[in-house]
Amino acid sequence: MTQKTTDPLIQLSGVNRNFTDGPAALREVSVTVGRGEAVAILGPSGSGKSTLLNMIAGLDRPDSGTVTVDGVRVDGLDETGAARYRRERIGMVFQFFHLLDDLTVLDNVLLPAELTGLGRAEARRRAHTLLETLGVAHHVRAHPGRLSGGERQRVAVARALMNRPPLLLADEPTGALDSASGADVAGLLRDLHADGQTVVLVTHDVRLAEETCTRTVRIVDGRIAADEPTARGRAARQAVTR
Ligand SMILES: Nc1ncnc2c1ncn2[C@@H]1O[C@H](COP(=O)(O)OP(=O)(O)OP(=O)(O)O)[C@@H](O)[C@H]1O
Ligand SMILES: [Mg+2]
Repeated sequence: MTQKTTDPLIQLSGVNRNFTDGPAALREVSVTVGRGEAVAILGPSGSGKSTLLNMIAGLDRPDSGTVTVDGVRVDGLDETGAARYRRERIGMVFQFFHLLDDLTVLDNVLLPAELTGLGRAEARRRAHTLLETLGVAHHVRAHPGRLSGGERQRVAVARALMNRPPLLLADEPTGALDSASGADVAGLLRDLHADGQTVVLVTHDVRLAEETCTRTVRIVDGRIAADEPTARGRAARQAVTR
């Protein structure tokens, strides 16, 4: 598969974020992620990883600097604009799934398609296809509380992909899973990336980063301390330049 890493999907330039108490959460962070890349954000607890992800998702704004994603100046959006931006361009997966337990699996996955203008029948078709691809189709009518952690995370991934977002963001998606389910989710992210999905993954787990991503960006005290390809990323680059 060819990867268009020259076409930037995410561009952060000189991003600073200060919370009122404590040291700066992000300091002069500049980073570019190309379309089709899979980038892991690594770093110790409190180093600014989730803050960085929130900037990209339009859930938080920088005090200074710019955030551009898929041609959108995310730092300039108001709340309505940010909600729309997330609905159309971002899929998010979290450590603790954030599924709604009052809804069935199917309705959780359908939720992002509301307000998008996608017809109900088409949305249901798409949701079923996603749940099938992710191996949880037999649970469509169950409530998430009855599923295993690994299954819940698959449902969360299906929900994240419902609106076919150009960007999938994941914050410790295997953090609450046993090692077998974690490996399943890692495999799933790898497959999505192989199909062309751009992925930004926040994790403490170096092995997960190496297994699923082509590049690692390490953050320490709110600054980018290292930015390098993984072994997979180096192999992919060699395949392209050969
Ligand atoms: N809403 C907030 N209000 C005040 N301080 C915050 C807020 N969000 C984050 N911080 C602070 O910013 C710094 C970076 O936090 P962040 O959540 O980005 O770290 P992290 O790298 O994701 O850590 P972890 O690996 O533990 O999830 C921390 O010092 C944190 O206390
Ligand atoms: Mg975090």
